[in-house]
Amino acid sequence: MANLWPWKKNPWFETVLEAQRRTKAFLPPSVYAALVAGSERGRTPQENMDAFGDLQFAPHVAGHQPDRDLSTTIMGIPSSMPVMISPTGVQAIRPEGEVAVAKAAQARGIPMGLSSFASKPVEEVTAANENTFFQMYWTGSREAMVQRMERARAAGAVGLISTTDWSFSIGRDWGSPAIPERMNLPAIIKMAPEGIIRPKWTLKWLLSGLPDLTAPNLKPPTGPAPTFFQAYGEWMQTPPPSWEDIEWLRKEWGGKFMLKGVTRVDDAKRAIDIGADAISVSNHGGNNLDTTPAAIRCLPAVADAVGDQIEVLLDGGVRRGGDVAKALALGARAVLIGRAYLWGLGANGQTGVENVLDLLRMGLDSAVLGLGHKSIGELSPADLLIPEGFEAVLGATGAPAPDSAAAKKQTPKKPAAKRPVEKLVE
Ligand SMILES: Cc1cc2nc3c(=O)[nH]c(=O)nc-3n(C[C@H](O)[C@H](O)[C@H](O)COP(=O)(O)O)c2cc1C
Repeated sequence: MANLWPWKKNPWFETVLEAQRRTKAFLPPSVYAALVAGSERGRTPQENMDAFGDLQFAPHVAGHQPDRDLSTTIMGIPSSMPVMISPTGVQAIRPEGEVAVAKAAQARGIPMGLSSFASKPVEEVTAANENTFFQMYWTGSREAMVQRMERARAAGAVGLISTTDWSFSIGRDWGSPAIPERMNLPAIIKMAPEGIIRPKWTLKWLLSGLPDLTAPNLKPPTGPAPTFFQAYGEWMQTPPPSWEDIEWLRKEWGGKFMLKGVTRVDDAKRAIDIGADAISVSNHGGNNLDTTPAAIRCLPAVADAVGDQIEVLLDGGVRRGGDVAKALALGARAVLIGRAYLWGLGANGQTGVENVLDLLRMGLDSAVLGLGHKSIGELSPADLLIPEGFEAVLGATGAPAPDSAAAKKQTPKKPAAKRPVEKLVE
C-alpha cells in the first residue's frame, strides 16, 4: 500500500543508537536521564560500550555456512538466541512498561528478567512471558524476602536472579534527575514544563492514567505497595548480605539461581560454593562504583576459571549483535541486555523492543556468518584480535587484604588506549 504520510519517519530503526536518539526526543529530560544512569564520572558505562569496539573480528573470505544456529539454553530454559532481558527498575517510561518488554521477549523467544523494583506486578509479566526470572535485591527482613520469592514462584517465575553488587554510590557530574515520590498535584505542576515540551509522552500517560510510582512486587501481604523511595530507603537500611546470607537465599529459592554482578574470579568461585547455577559478569551497567573495568574485560578470566562448572553470562555495554558474538567468543554462554531494550521501549514500545532484539539477532548472525561458523557454539577467542592488556583479571589469587603485597601483584594491567565509540551522555 502506498505510504499516505510520506513525511512520517519510518518507525523501524536500524541501530540501537538511533533508538536511543528517538527515546531522548520522546521522553522528558529527567526521565531520559534516569535511564542513562551511571555514577560519578560516568566512566564505567562508557567503558562497557567502548571495550567491545576495541575487540576486532577475524572474518573469512569464503567457505561460509549457509545455515547458522543461534539458539541456546540459559539455565535450562530455551532461548532462540544467547540474549536475555536484564532486570531494570522503574520502566514506567511508557504505560505498558515491563509487560511490553516481556511480550517482545516472548515474541522473539527469549527469557525475561524482571526487577523487584519494576512498575508492573510479577503476575502480569509472567502472563506475558512464560520464561520470566524474578530479580531480588537484599532488602528487608528474611521473612519479607521469603514472601516476595514465594509470590514470584506462585506467579510462575522460572528462576531467581540475586543482585548484590549495588553500592549506593552518590552523585553524577552531569547531575541526577529529580524523580517525584508520587504523581500528586505538586509533582504534576513541577513536571509540567517537561511535559509541555514532550507532548506525545504526556498524552500517552494522560490517556492511560498517571503512573503511581510504586514497587508492586515489594508489597507486603497487608498494606499498600511501597513507593520507589520507600523501597529504596528500606534497601539502604538493610545490612549488606554475607556469602552465608546469599547461600540461604539460594536454598530458600531452591530452583534456578543466578548471582548477578560478579567481576572477580574469587567471587565467581564462591558463587559455585553456594550452589548458584549461573553468574553474570557485570558491573550493573556502570551504575555502581565508577571506574570499575568494563564487564567484557573481566569476562575471560572468570570464564577460564569457572566456565566449566557454572553458566557464565555477561551484561554491560551490549548494543550490537557483534557485541554478543564477542562475549560468546570470550567465554560467555549468553548476554543480558539493559539499556539496549530500554531505548527500544522508549522509541516504540513493544515493537521497539522487538526491533532491538531483531537487530541483535541480525548482527549476531552476520558475525557468525562472516566468521565461517555453523553455530554460536563454535565462537572462540581465535575469531578475535584482542589488544594486549585488554583483560582485567580481578581477584584471581583469592581475596587478599586490600593493602597486602598479593593485592598489589594482582592489580590489573592498564588497558590499551581506546577511542570512544558511543557517547553515554549526548
Ligand atoms: C535504569 C536502570 C535500572 C536498572 N535497574 C536494575 C534493577 O532493578 N536490578 C538489577 O539487577 N539491575 C538493574 N540494572 C542493571 C541492569 O540489569 C544491567 O546490569 C545493565 O543495564 C547492563 O548494562 P547495559 O545497560 O549497558 O546493557 C539497571 C540498569 C539501568 C540502566
